[in-house]
Amino acid sequence: MTATVSGQAPGASSENPEPGGRAAIAAKTLRTDRWWVAPLLTAAGLAAWVLYALIRTATQKYYFVPEHGYLTPFSSPCLSQSCIPEAAHFGRPLPEFPPLVPFGLVALPFLLGFRLTCYYYRKAYYRSFWLSPPACAVPDAHQKYTGETRFPLLGQNLHRYFFYAAGIVSLVNTYDAIVAFHGDEGFQMGLGNLILVGNVILLWAYTLSCHSCRHIAGGRLKHFSQHPVRYWLWTQISKLNTRHMQLAWITLGTLALTDAYIALVAADVIPDLRFFN
Ligand code: FES
Repeated sequence: MTATVSGQAPGASSENPEPGGRAAIAAKTLRTDRWWVAPLLTAAGLAAWVLYALIRTATQKYYFVPEHGYLTPFSSPCLSQSCIPEAAHFGRPLPEFPPLVPFGLVALPFLLGFRLTCYYYRKAYYRSFWLSPPACAVPDAHQKYTGETRFPLLGQNLHRYFFYAAGIVSLVNTYDAIVAFHGDEGFQMGLGNLILVGNVILLWAYTLSCHSCRHIAGGRLKHFSQHPVRYWLWTQISKLNTRHMQLAWITLGTLALTDAYIALVAADVIPDLRFFN
């Protein structure tokens, strides 16, 4: 920022700020860099992913490869009568789903809740969609700032419970990845297996790097020395936690990649690369 001869920033008013309020600045923002690029890219990336997921799950097609046992994480757990029986690893207790309803509907609200209330994603969409604030030193788009003390942002406090639910979904995805190694002739392995396993490992890394998980492991302790196991867990999770933002994006990518690979194999567009059986 360049100061004027009087020492005042361009666009700044000479009035004093209100007590406890913002400085009275006439200009919308004094930032001259392209601060809007990061929120714009974030909005585009998240919107593209949601669009892809909506289209893929609404088709109710190409979610399972019967020959190799690959089930896309988008349709897991497959609990509806509409699911192919071999894809329903936990039975089919739910009735048939009408067209356009995702087969993974049971897990979806919890996964969306987990990501929506995630500390990293909050930063991303507060800046890109909620515009509160869009960037540092750029005014809030809302008249009043109430933080996370009012509906709907008050719901962010549910994050810890979504963490537990996401842990269960990760266990389900892990099971899906493991059973895919077992075919009619025993052990089998193809590129799809490696993609499913890679996806599950990264999902666990994202889930365990969660801030709530870190707090569960090491929070509310007065003396780490008296809780060596929790201290060790907290230390490991803290290391992972420094990569939480990267893992948030990487897992969006691997989820879409895993789903796309399974869809292409299921639709006979590409063959699965087989290593064993
Ligand atoms: S803080 Fe991101 S998943 Fe918990």
